[in-house]
Formats: sequence, structure tokens, C-alpha cells
Amino acid sequence: MSKFVKLAAVAALLTTAAFADTTACAGCHGKDFEKSALGKSKIVKDLSKEDIVKALKGYKAGTYGGAMKSVMQGQVAKLDDAAIEAIATEIKGGDSAKVDANATAETNATAETNATAEANATT
Ligand code: HEC
Repeated sequence: MSKFVKLAAVAALLTTAAFADTTACAGCHGKDFEKSALGKSKIVKDLSKEDIVKALKGYKAGTYGGAMKSVMQGQVAKLDDAAIEAIATEIKGGDSAKVDANATAETNATAETNATAEANATT
């Protein structure tokens, strides 16, 4: 019995992982969504998570897209909202816990010490 429970848990985990599977997207968008798909799409990894979700839901609803939107409509047809969210999260840095890892501490402490001591002591 407990063995069965464990197996079920593992199966559930595997299912969740497969949920955000983006391998099918890689052929066009690149492994890390770093390419312009078929030379037409935006670089998806540069979009915000919100924009990715908006685009994918829009393709599904037929309310978003350019000249090649039919390509993407085929891609998202089988995804539900949760899968779209999971994919967007995945694109923006792995699991949800890592999403905020983009907190690039831009410590551009450009200490402008232009202390040009113009001691023009012109007497
Ligand atoms: C057969 C090639 C192909 C595959 C596979 C594909 N895409 Fe696309 N994708 C495109 C093209 C082409 C566009 C631009 C479509 C248009 O004209 O709106 C696009 C656009 C997008 C956009 C919006 C970017 C923009 O330009 O506004 C997102 C987000 C996106 N794809 C995500 C995905 C995801 C996630 C997958 C996998 C589930 C995927 N794509 C699979 C070709 C592909």
C-alpha cells in the first residue's frame, strides 16, 4: 500500500515536470528561447513572463499574433492556462522559486569622484 502511494507521488511529480516541457518549442525558438522563431517571432526570453502568458493565451484565443500566428495556434491548442503559466515560468528561469533570481543587483556604484581640485590659486 505505502509502496503504491510512493509510486503515485513519483508519477504525479513526473506529470508536473512534463507539464512545462518546452522541448517541442526549441526547434523554432532555440533551447533557451534565444532565437527569433522562423525569423519572425520576438526573442521570447526577452519578453516578461506576463507578456509570454498574454501571447500564448492570445494565440489560443485567436486574439494575438502576426503573419505566422497559425503556427503558434497549433502549438498552444493543447495547452490549458496552467500549462501556459508553467511554460512562461520555465522560460523565465526554471521553477517558480527561481523566478525572482533575476534580481540582478546592479550595484553600479559609479563613484564619480571627479574631485577636480581646481586649485587655481592664481594670485
Ligand atoms: C514551428 C515553429 C514553432 C514552434 C515549434 C513554436 N513556435 Fe512559438 N512562434 C513561432 C513563430 C513563427 C512565431 C511568431 C508568430 C506570429 O506571427 O505571431 C512564434 C511566436 C511565439 C511567441 C510570441 C512572440 C512574439 O513574437 O510575439 C511565444 C511566447 C511563443 N512563440 C512561444 C512558444 C512556445 C512556448 C512554444 C512551445 C510550446 C512554441 N512557441 C513553439 C514558431 C514556433
